[in-house]
Amino acid sequence: MMSSLRSRNGPRLKYAPDEAAPYETITVDKLTPIIGGEVGGIDLRDISNRQMDELHRALAENLVIFFRDQHLSQEQHLDFGRRFGDLHLHPAAPSAPGHPELMIIHADKDSPRANGEGWHTDVSCDPEPPMGSILYIRHCPPRGGDTLFANMYAAYEALSDRMKTYLEGLTARHDGEHYRGQYANYGVKDKERYPFADHPIIRTHPVTGRKALYVNEGFTRYINGIPRDESTGVLQYLYKHMANPLFQCRFRWRENSIAFWDNRCVQHHAMWDYWPHTRSGHRVTIAGDRPV
Ligand code: SIN
Repeated sequence: MMSSLRSRNGPRLKYAPDEAAPYETITVDKLTPIIGGEVGGIDLRDISNRQMDELHRALAENLVIFFRDQHLSQEQHLDFGRRFGDLHLHPAAPSAPGHPELMIIHADKDSPRANGEGWHTDVSCDPEPPMGSILYIRHCPPRGGDTLFANMYAAYEALSDRMKTYLEGLTARHDGEHYRGQYANYGVKDKERYPFADHPIIRTHPVTGRKALYVNEGFTRYINGIPRDESTGVLQYLYKHMANPLFQCRFRWRENSIAFWDNRCVQHHAMWDYWPHTRSGHRVTIAGDRPV
């Protein structure tokens, strides 16, 4: 069998981003050419209209944007999210007292699990899954607890033309039943049924018009309309493909940092490598549209 390390045709993905015009009201320092940008020169408590336009552009160009040294109250975090759309209510996760849209992200030495420990896009089991998520980490472990992000446009573009043709028009079932019992340690009572939905495997981003791979190990259960063994084989291939580090960046958190990712074209994976230490913050999630 040929080693996956051997290639004589250049990189798997030949991605040459446009040399964008400079930003005027913020700075954007790219983490990699393919995904991630750290935004500077902005206080998220006080954003001008021009800065808002440039934040939209930075998100579209970088897919996930990061901010350092931000000092937001819970209300200011929610207000920042509302500037991008209606807020999404998580079907299962616990929230901050009095703020149902402020999801608790927390793991410590007694936690049975940590949020997001596996590749996923947020709540893709919803018929209208969230457009974006804004995670504000206030307390970091001494080391570890990074989050990895992967570019699903790039994962799509790096597929062979044969595979793109095969996947075009197929849908997959996404299911949130794994939430059952997941937050029992917070006293969360299970719903009778968690959301589920069928979504296109290749979705078109409503803002950029670009195609992105839209299946994830966290929520996708099977591909509709093909034999189950074939579905399992194809999904396993796609999960392995999208986890290629070529499509990724890795964010090292510091206290009072924020990551804002676009769930329509990004998957993420949170590392729980810091036990027995504590990592905590809150996530505001922005509602989205039905994928097409
Ligand atoms: C999540 O929203 O999936 C959690 C991500 C993280 O804690 O880094």
